[in-house]
Amino acid sequence: MTAVDDARTLLSSLTDAPAVGVWSAPGRANLIGEHTDYNEGFVFPFAIAQRTAAAVAIRSDDVIRVTSTFSSDSVEVSLSELDARIAAGGLDWAGYPLGVAWALLREAPDADPRGVDIALASDVPVGAGLSSSAAIEGAVASALNDVWNAGLDKVALARVGRIAENDAVGAPTGIMDQMASMLGVADAATFLDCRTLETRSVALGFAEAGLSILVVDTLVEHAHSTGGYRERREACERGAAAFGVPSLRDLTVDDLPRAEEILDEVTFRRVRHIITENQRVLDTVAALDADGPSAIGDLLVASHVSMRDDFEISVPELDLAVETALASGALGARMTGGGFGGAAIALISTDLVPAATEAVLSAFAASGFRRPNIFTVTPSEGARRDV
Ligand code: GLA
Repeated sequence: MTAVDDARTLLSSLTDAPAVGVWSAPGRANLIGEHTDYNEGFVFPFAIAQRTAAAVAIRSDDVIRVTSTFSSDSVEVSLSELDARIAAGGLDWAGYPLGVAWALLREAPDADPRGVDIALASDVPVGAGLSSSAAIEGAVASALNDVWNAGLDKVALARVGRIAENDAVGAPTGIMDQMASMLGVADAATFLDCRTLETRSVALGFAEAGLSILVVDTLVEHAHSTGGYRERREACERGAAAFGVPSLRDLTVDDLPRAEEILDEVTFRRVRHIITENQRVLDTVAALDADGPSAIGDLLVASHVSMRDDFEISVPELDLAVETALASGALGARMTGGGFGGAAIALISTDLVPAATEAVLSAFAASGFRRPNIFTVTPSEGARRDV
């Protein structure tokens, strides 16, 4: 059963009204460009095959009811109460779909909102750093955009997802995940300039090169609405303020000597990660264009080292996954996503995947770490209407 089938089945257990459609959006893996999005820099993620689907039926009243296969609770809110319920918070998982409904109405004042039942089903692993939240946001935004005649394009729908995440859920994230989920193209990654929101789809050619992306989900939990993610963001803002620029996007590697002079040691290292990571994204896209996917491995490793040592968002499980994948012949490996847990990715010859998987499992067991989930991901199509 796919997520689309599961969402339809769930909807029919909830209401006799027929589904007016099913929409879905994928999770994402970020190839490179971490914590650069909220610094208005560059990122290079791809949508994965795992998706969240939203089946929708029209109601005769003005209630939005959301239900999902990942929680036993349904949550109901009338359209007239939506502002107040979002402001009150505490909606847990329902904050994502209801936050999207709320943000969509803010961004598309001419939309024609009506009561709906929304049933969500997903095969995106939750908490793996593969953006299960952006998948929910993309599916619900795409669905309500059509059902409510909101008329927004994909970039505007990505923005709706980000507003939901920032202002309804309260996670101070950037726009990378939503853009990757909305705009993904099979066998390609999305090069995104987070200042202009201009994108370019860049062919990856992994399959032709006999390469795979192996994901090691460490199962170490992370939450971006609290703690380290927010602190890193604040350090970046301090760095930009010290230079008198709107964001770290305005600095380049030529500014590093001055940054070292004027910033405290920790802020300097945070800033150095962002500046060098932006350059690595540009270098990765150029290397792919010029020499294909086997040329990008060292950049992935350099990105991991920078996150481990300068940005300090890795954890021992992620470092072990990266080291073991490299020792097993991966061309490159790095943690992906916001950090403090979640997943690492490795670019590796498809032939080596079984041996690398075994090696990572053994290394985790030997270190006394929880057994990780290990699987490959395929660059896939973004949000769409399925039915
Ligand atoms: C999370 C956020 C993104 C981005 C990454 C780090 O996935 O949702 O906006 O900041 O972390 O690159």
